[in-house]
Amino acid sequence: MGGAAAVMPDRDALIAAARAAAVQAYAPYSNFHVGAALAFADGSVVTGSNVENASYGLSLCAETVAAASAMNAGRRGGLVAVAVIGGKPGGGPATVTPCGRCRQVLNELAQLGGTDPLIWCAGGEEVLELRLSELLPHAFGPANLD
Ligand code: THU
Repeated sequence: MGGAAAVMPDRDALIAAARAAAVQAYAPYSNFHVGAALAFADGSVVTGSNVENASYGLSLCAETVAAASAMNAGRRGGLVAVAVIGGKPGGGPATVTPCGRCRQVLNELAQLGGTDPLIWCAGGEEVLELRLSELLPHAFGPANLD
């Protein structure tokens, strides 16, 4: 039964990974750089940053990029924590709570593995810590299509 026990990441280390990811952001239109770090039960971390587009509405958020990268690497669950941070280069960090679309995208990966990841929204004095289920109650997910 079961695999190895889930590794919970160090909160500040995961936030540091998100902050480092934000350096790669392509955000010439908003000048708001966001980084996201996804922690998995096996101890691995997958990051992403926002990728904007000249057709503004097509821009991709950091969390979506990270989730797509993780799924492209074959992950289908095990998501235990997410850290997000944003800000303008040269300015102070800003707290970012995942947008509605990103909540839904993260929910897909979480539900596939039956986890309810912690979401750490960093940037302010205090780190806001919420479960994905608090950010997206009554989520529609893969199970709804059974
Ligand atoms: N953004 C993210 O990457 N994640 C969020 O959760 C909120 C917003 C990005 C989208 C856009 O490139 C920039 O931040 C300003 O909205």
